[in-house]
Amino acid sequence: MANWDISNAYVFTTFAFLILVCTPDLIFGQIRYSIPEEINEGAVVGNIAQDLGLNIQQLSSRRFRLTSDDGEQYMKVNLDNGILSIRKRIDRENVCGQTPTCTIHFKIILEKPLAVYPGEMEILDVNDNSPTFRESNIVLQISEAITPGVQFPLESAEDPDSGINTVAAYTLSSSEYFSIKTQRTEDDNILAKLLLDKPLDRERQTSFQLVLTATDGGTPQRSGTALILITVLDNNDNPPVFDHEIYRSSLRENTPVGTLVIKVKANDLDEGVNAELTYSFSKLTSPRIRELFSIDPDIGEIRTEGEVDFEEANSYSIDVQAVDHGSPAITGHSNVLIKVIDENDNAPEIKVTSGTSNFPENAPPGTLITLINVIDRDSGANGDIYCKISKNIPFNLQTSSKNHYELITSEPLDRESVPEYKINVIALDMGSPSLSSNKTIHIVLSDVNDNAPRFEKTSYNIYVMENNAPGVSIFAVTASDPDLGQNSYISYSILENLIHDFPISSYVNINSMNGSIYALGSFDYEQLKTFQIYIQARDAGVPPLSSRTTVNVIILDQNDNTPVIVSPSAKSGSASVEILPQSAGQGYLVTKIMATDADSGQNARLLYQLVKSTDPSLFNVGQSTGEIRTARNILMADTTTQTLVILVKDNGQPSLSSTVTIQITILENITERITESNNFVSSPENFSDLNLYLIVIFACTSVLFLVTILLLIGIKCKQEGNVTQQYNSPSCFCRRGESRDEFNRRSQMEETLRYPGTGRVVRVPEAHQYSVCLSPDSSKSEFLFLKPCAAPTPHPDAKL
Ligand SMILES: *[C@@H]1O[C@H](CO)[C@@H](O)[C@H](O)[C@H]1NC(C)=O
Ligand SMILES: *[C@@H]1O[C@H](CO)[C@@H](O)[C@H](O)[C@H]1NC(C)=O
Repeated sequence: MANWDISNAYVFTTFAFLILVCTPDLIFGQIRYSIPEEINEGAVVGNIAQDLGLNIQQLSSRRFRLTSDDGEQYMKVNLDNGILSIRKRIDRENVCGQTPTCTIHFKIILEKPLAVYPGEMEILDVNDNSPTFRESNIVLQISEAITPGVQFPLESAEDPDSGINTVAAYTLSSSEYFSIKTQRTEDDNILAKLLLDKPLDRERQTSFQLVLTATDGGTPQRSGTALILITVLDNNDNPPVFDHEIYRSSLRENTPVGTLVIKVKANDLDEGVNAELTYSFSKLTSPRIRELFSIDPDIGEIRTEGEVDFEEANSYSIDVQAVDHGSPAITGHSNVLIKVIDENDNAPEIKVTSGTSNFPENAPPGTLITLINVIDRDSGANGDIYCKISKNIPFNLQTSSKNHYELITSEPLDRESVPEYKINVIALDMGSPSLSSNKTIHIVLSDVNDNAPRFEKTSYNIYVMENNAPGVSIFAVTASDPDLGQNSYISYSILENLIHDFPISSYVNINSMNGSIYALGSFDYEQLKTFQIYIQARDAGVPPLSSRTTVNVIILDQNDNTPVIVSPSAKSGSASVEILPQSAGQGYLVTKIMATDADSGQNARLLYQLVKSTDPSLFNVGQSTGEIRTARNILMADTTTQTLVILVKDNGQPSLSSTVTIQITILENITERITESNNFVSSPENFSDLNLYLIVIFACTSVLFLVTILLLIGIKCKQEGNVTQQYNSPSCFCRRGESRDEFNRRSQMEETLRYPGTGRVVRVPEAHQYSVCLSPDSSKSEFLFLKPCAAPTPHPDAKL
């Protein structure tokens, strides 16, 4: 058991050392040694025999024993030489743990006599342990948002050694972001903390590998390392960023809904949800843009949602944003500029801005009627407008400024020819294809009193049978006025005029409303053959306009005068007396009856007829000449006083007549009687000579006269032909609505003309006129007759 063995040099050096530092401490017989830990087995600790003052022999004889308190035998004694050596390698950290001093207590027991020597062996620490970390990898996760200065406690390294041999310092591999801060605790431990020096940016460096070294203070120094693995946690610190600050795109207007306009794209440097993006329009985007466009939240495609109208806006600026899903979320912005391309999708619009639809017809050329404004909401050529109006109307379209026009009159207007206009205004744009629109402007001309009333003729000839009933309508004039309303309201009046010194208003009047002309009294042809009425028609315009016409009133003759016997003049109630010489032969002109008729024409053509005679065989009367001649020679047996009744009648219908009674006295001796006689008939001898001369002269002048008249009549007939005949047709002589019988009766009754208003009866004997009268009814042989005659036959249109 006590087998002390001094074997190698090492032991000696150790021993020597021990001797130097650990001298046996013999206090109360206690023995004490100091040895470093971990010395090899057999290393000599000391010579216990010497240290106890015993001789070697006593060791065996006194039954030397070595016991330890804890029963563990770390040492042995060589009983032959008393050397105490290490029996078992001693690990101080094993035996004593972390206590600062480590002492093993033992006892040396000797018998005979029993002696017990306590002993101590101090195990001195040797730096035999390196600091170690429990985990070789220290994993840390640090958010990039952590601010510099923040410390992260690190697990301490362990070193079972004690004193200076335990962990004394920590170092860190070089890093610009991190450093180590150590702190000594009260129990002399060192705590290490990782200090963040500089802000982290995951986007620059997502992880760090740092080497943490713990070193002890022993000699030689020992160290242990651990790897610090730092993962930088993402913080949503990066905004989404669009590819472009401004996206530009163009779009034709009216493109169908759903058309892709542009695709926007943003990137976020963060990771995970922090980099997941949602696209949208920014909050400030107008509702109208939201109606027109949509954005896909996931892929950023912008499409049309409605029809884009260039005329509404020619471009759109949309703020788009991309929002990541971090917390808090970060938003990135961009702008999309969409240019709208115009299409010719708008027809021009015509606006009639002002003006009257009603304006006077006398507006002079150049009068502004209305203003026209044309608008085309398209742009460029699509919005350039050409404007025109229908041709061949008296209007012009005049440009006043771009797209503003004035519609003006170009010519004088006349409501009476064109009362209204429908002007079609056409506007065309220059797009292709061109669009057009039109508008009709309705213009009604208002009337101006620019037309005087107009009679159908400037003059009228009317024929009125004399002896008409007073108050009868003899004619009606009508005037027309193409103006409107009051301007066309016509009133008629007769202009003052004197007829035979009496105002015309005493002969005729007129219905001012309708132009009917009335005779106020009866006309007498023998008194008044023709007169003129000047009629004025006047409208009610302001100022009024008027015009005139002339009515030539021609009064037609009626057979209302009985023949008047002028010669031989007979005292009323007695017969005229004529002397006839007995010697007068056959054909002797006894006398000539001369009669007049105030009428004219046939009404004044007189026929003579012998209605009663004492001896009808003795005398005859020239039917047309009124000459009374002897029919035979006078016989002695004939009664000397012959009485003749001669009827003078006119040719009117019915005819009127007068009679004359002639008493003829036949005398044997005529001479003395001739002188006393006042009769123009001379003595038969003289008479026959005179008669012969007269006849010859008369025949000559008659022939000359006949030739002249024939020539004149020939010319006149050629000129007037049928008209004359019409005039003389019997119906013309009648009053309107009067039968022929009534007419005849009236004719006989009315012998005088009573002038209206005066009440007096006028009877003006007609001057005897010998002229040639034309009878339309006469045959050629009856063409001429010599008699008192009325005025020449009036011609219907002749100015009298
Ligand atoms: C005027 O416009 C109408 C439709 O508004 C169209 O039917 C007509 O043909 C046009 N007239 C002209 C002359 O352009
Ligand atoms: C004119 O008016 C009067 C009275 O109203 C009437 O008797 C006459 O027939 C009218 N004349 C014409 C031509 O209408």
